[in-house]
Amino acid sequence: MCGIVGYVGHKPVVDILLDGLAQLEYRGYDSSGIAVKCSDSIKVYKAEGKLANLRDELSFHAYELSKSTMGIGHIRWATHGAPTVINAHPHTCNCGNLVIVHNGIIENYKELKAELEAKGCIFKSQTDTESVAHLVASIYAEVKDLTKAVHLATQKIQGAYALCIMHNDEPNKIVATKRNAPLVIGLGENEFYIASDVPAFIKHTKRAIYLEDNQVATLTPDKLIIEDENSAKIEPKVELLPWESVALSKMGYKHFMLKEIHEQPDIIRNILVGKLKTSDSEIELNEVNLTKETLKNLNRIQVIACGTSLHAAMIGKYIIENFCSIPVDVEASSEYIYRKTVTDKHTLVIGVSQSGETADTLTAIKQSKARGSHILIITNRPDSAMAREADSLLSVNAGIEVSVAATKSYIAQLTSFYLLALYMAEIKGTMKSDDLRNIKSEMLLLPQKIEQILSHKEEIQKCARKYSGTRDFIYIARGINYPTALEGALKLKEISYINATGYPAGELKHGPIAMLDETMPVLSILMKGSVYEKLLSNSEEAKARNARMIALTNSTDPKLDDLFDFIIRVPEVMELLSPLIAMIPLQLIAYYIAEFLGKDVDQPRNLAKSVTVE
Ligand code: M6R
Repeated sequence: MCGIVGYVGHKPVVDILLDGLAQLEYRGYDSSGIAVKCSDSIKVYKAEGKLANLRDELSFHAYELSKSTMGIGHIRWATHGAPTVINAHPHTCNCGNLVIVHNGIIENYKELKAELEAKGCIFKSQTDTESVAHLVASIYAEVKDLTKAVHLATQKIQGAYALCIMHNDEPNKIVATKRNAPLVIGLGENEFYIASDVPAFIKHTKRAIYLEDNQVATLTPDKLIIEDENSAKIEPKVELLPWESVALSKMGYKHFMLKEIHEQPDIIRNILVGKLKTSDSEIELNEVNLTKETLKNLNRIQVIACGTSLHAAMIGKYIIENFCSIPVDVEASSEYIYRKTVTDKHTLVIGVSQSGETADTLTAIKQSKARGSHILIITNRPDSAMAREADSLLSVNAGIEVSVAATKSYIAQLTSFYLLALYMAEIKGTMKSDDLRNIKSEMLLLPQKIEQILSHKEEIQKCARKYSGTRDFIYIARGINYPTALEGALKLKEISYINATGYPAGELKHGPIAMLDETMPVLSILMKGSVYEKLLSNSEEAKARNARMIALTNSTDPKLDDLFDFIIRVPEVMELLSPLIAMIPLQLIAYYIAEFLGKDVDQPRNLAKSVTVE
């Protein structure tokens, strides 16, 4: 995580850096800083906390910085060292001549530090990054060429990094390089931008070059040189970005999260357009680049993802197995990459990621690709690193998700999984035509049903207020909604910091039931269908231990009134589609509890939207 941005050109740089960092705040907001070239030397400014603090700090220096036209900036998600000013980037070498911003983790920083301290370098921060500042500076002292020094330094660095570096002795230059972390260069007229992600400069240019691992770029106002790891010049591929610069607005909502929750009905409509036309027409999914023959013979699928995307993947498993009778394994990418896995060219590997940049998922995808598997990526970012690895790309088109807590991207991922599963089921002939027709016609009704929930939020708000004082929260469900329980709990804990856990309800009696007493809220996701009665019994068991019982249900069964202290009702929906309906009130409960507690809903503490470190 962390975001970096840089500019060389002829325009005042400070606003370009600050605007760029604002667009990258989804990558972290522990601290921020910039280094700009002034007439006499490079000057560094840093602030703890949100970017607004840096803006305040810089307002005192507006005049002296107004002529600067070159600089680098950083927004931090702390990995090594607390989120303090000392640990904020840019970091400098001892004499202050070299400044550096970094995204990633330098794995051998301790060894480098020991080596550099022995040579007399004095470290000021607790970061891994500072070792690179001293390393490049010490090499520079010998070779007197910043590009060459960066090439040589990268031979000694282990880990993941995107780096932008400036040096007082080569005042018109930014040197940048990367390995397993994103870096993209924007091309203007006699100016260059560089950033972790395109929103940082998209309002200035749409022409861009994605830097590849181990390449070193040297940017001056009139020239861009890119070299491979052997210092040979390369002719980079210039891409036209498929992005519009959009002014991100809350559209009158108090938070982006609430706005994004309300966008969900239209997002489903947009995804279905052209792919699911009527309940009688076949699913059209040209994005799947596999022949019908291959799909028919497919006998194993592996899905890899993290966080909320992992929960979407778990529901994906349930429906693909149910509709297509193909065994599906789902695994957290961070676990998948450090064991011997058995994916091969006969396995379809599906990577799910809102950002398309999550380091663990990206590594897992690359590993499977190297073993010959077909890679299908479900992502909200068709321009991302993962998308570039894809053999088949399902772009979920949820639009930019600003809130760190994923909501609309989850619903969009789920909708895409349903389309994929139905598409494969049609090709494999694994579903009865009546079942296919029923599920398709219900899918077309989903947006309206979600709108119904959104237009009756008061009950959910009441529920949130009633339970907002709790320290812990338990969500239970069975079957297809077990991942819904996990996702509901994740939403609550990440924005309200309440200790929430999701359990398969049948497992409660095997241990977690010991935690129940009259202080513990237990929310039962009680959707009609195959496990309804079983879940009702599990809810009774919890009630018998005096838990504070809440139901989220589409049932009108009067016996629920005795069992539950609070009931949230949702519209009728078939069990197989119920995760798309059940999730909406859970997002709202999490939102309203956090809002009621006065938490920073869109930028919860310790988190970042895009997790680009393993
Ligand atoms: O961009 P990705 O979908 O790969 O991100 C994975 C997780 O980091 C992400 O879902 C995270 O759990 C969210 N904060 C959940 O709201």
